[in-house]
Amino acid sequence: MTNPTLATLLAHRSIRRFTDQKLTPEEITTLVTAAQHAPTSTFSQQYSILSVTDPAKLAALGDLTGHHWLEQAGHYFIFLVDQYRNQELAPKTITTATNLHSTDKLLAGIFDATIATEAVVTAGESLGLGSTIMGSILNDVPRLIQLFELPELTFPVLGLAIGHPAEQPEHKPRLPQKLMHFENTYHPVTAADPQVVAYDALLKRYYQQRTTNQREETFTHHLATELSRDPQQRAGILAALQQQGFLQE
Ligand SMILES: Cc1cc2nc3c(=O)[nH]c(=O)nc-3n(C[C@H](O)[C@H](O)[C@H](O)COP(=O)(O)O)c2cc1C
Repeated sequence: MTNPTLATLLAHRSIRRFTDQKLTPEEITTLVTAAQHAPTSTFSQQYSILSVTDPAKLAALGDLTGHHWLEQAGHYFIFLVDQYRNQELAPKTITTATNLHSTDKLLAGIFDATIATEAVVTAGESLGLGSTIMGSILNDVPRLIQLFELPELTFPVLGLAIGHPAEQPEHKPRLPQKLMHFENTYHPVTAADPQVVAYDALLKRYYQQRTTNQREETFTHHLATELSRDPQQRAGILAALQQQGFLQE
């Protein structure tokens, strides 16, 4: 079964090298419009999108993510949780707006910002653009808050480097569906499962044969490396969330 939408979704790969061509204002507006039409929790539209065009700010993002290639992207977006705007808009006479500080509202803002991000990724891909979502902007949240003058009840969620692709990386194979799509009850899995072993072998071939950054790697080993990362690397996130007024209940 296929159609142009499915073909776009299934052709996804993250793009980290871009041509010099910047996105046009019309393309940027179109991408933001696609984000705006995504579903939004309780119809509260509790996110905002920041376009980063100042070269000094892009360089700062390159420094704090360690991904200097983002500076060559055709455009750079940051998706924010934004309960600040709703606090300002809700009539003060009928609400104390205290629930905007709750964990629930933080999660709702993260859902909205994340869904909007993927809408822009897919809209971009449908236009022939490529992109990479960047969680690494959270490497230094206090710096981000200061750099973009983020008020209380806002929080950065994801960056998105997007532009005209200057590479066509191989498609990264995903887990077999039996390991991640269950019916009615959860199915625990162990590393000895033959499907896990087969997936490790598949990914090993992918890493050996891909055109750039070839290496010896499997999925289970990759997970071990990821799980061994020092949590202190992004230690400031909880404090920053509280400082921005979130997680008050
Ligand atoms: C929430 C999230 C955060 C990510 N953060 C980064 C990042 O900081 N830097 C990066 O190069 N890629 C990042 N990625 C891209 C993933 O590495 C990529 O999606 C994954 O390796 C699968 O590859 P593919 O997108 O090419 O299929 C992120 C993806 C997601 C969904």
